[in-house]
Amino acid sequence: MKLLEDRIRKDGIIREGNVLKVDSFINHQMDIALFREMAREWKRLFAGKPINKVLTIEASGIGIAAVVASELNVPVVFAKKSMSINLDYDNYETQIQSFTHKKIYNVIVSKKFLTPEDHLLIVDDFLANGCALMGLLELAAEAGATVEGIGIGIEKGFQAGGELVRSKGVQLESLAIIESMDSTTGEIVFRPQPHQ
Ligand code: G4P
Ligand code: NA
Ligand code: NA
Repeated sequence: MKLLEDRIRKDGIIREGNVLKVDSFINHQMDIALFREMAREWKRLFAGKPINKVLTIEASGIGIAAVVASELNVPVVFAKKSMSINLDYDNYETQIQSFTHKKIYNVIVSKKFLTPEDHLLIVDDFLANGCALMGLLELAAEAGATVEGIGIGIEKGFQAGGELVRSKGVQLESLAIIESMDSTTGEIVFRPQPHQ
């Protein structure tokens, strides 16, 4: 999506270690007009899919997911991260590993809010190693819900997550895919996406 790629080029900051800071429009301050355009793009890309709910994970996926839900006129549920094992049978629960934070989280969703009747669009801001996304797919599977698609804002195409998810046969639409970025020159190369 050209709008998002242009914004990343303009306001993204490349840090050492292949980290892209997007604090001024996604991860701290949020540009809701941009989120709305992203939501409209996903609406177009997933047109015809019987989506009745958006699923994301706290914290930074919530803002974008809320705008997507508003655009699709459906509710949004966010999975919660907790450090403690929760022996609560009213929740679906799985574990995810954060490479960045070197931690294992428990991720939960109440059984009240994910059911076999649900047709989900999973939304998140970033896709890197894909651990968070695999966790959400696991929770959806536990609930017997159908995953109609996955919408990601920024995919780091040089990390394993995108390939992992695409190999599962789920429709994954990343609005910007970074092939490479260079913290010294500031150069960012995006993967061309003909249909977007
Ligand atoms: P992943 O396997 O779930 O794809 O993510 P990974 O553990 O590699 O990264 C951990 C967290 O850092 C994730 O957020 C992910 O979205 C975020 N992240 C990864 N690479 C970048 C990057 O280059 N820039 C930015 N801004 N974020 C990145 P999270 O653990 O879900 O935390 P939260 O911020 O949503 O609470
Ligand atoms: Na994040
Ligand atoms: Na996130």
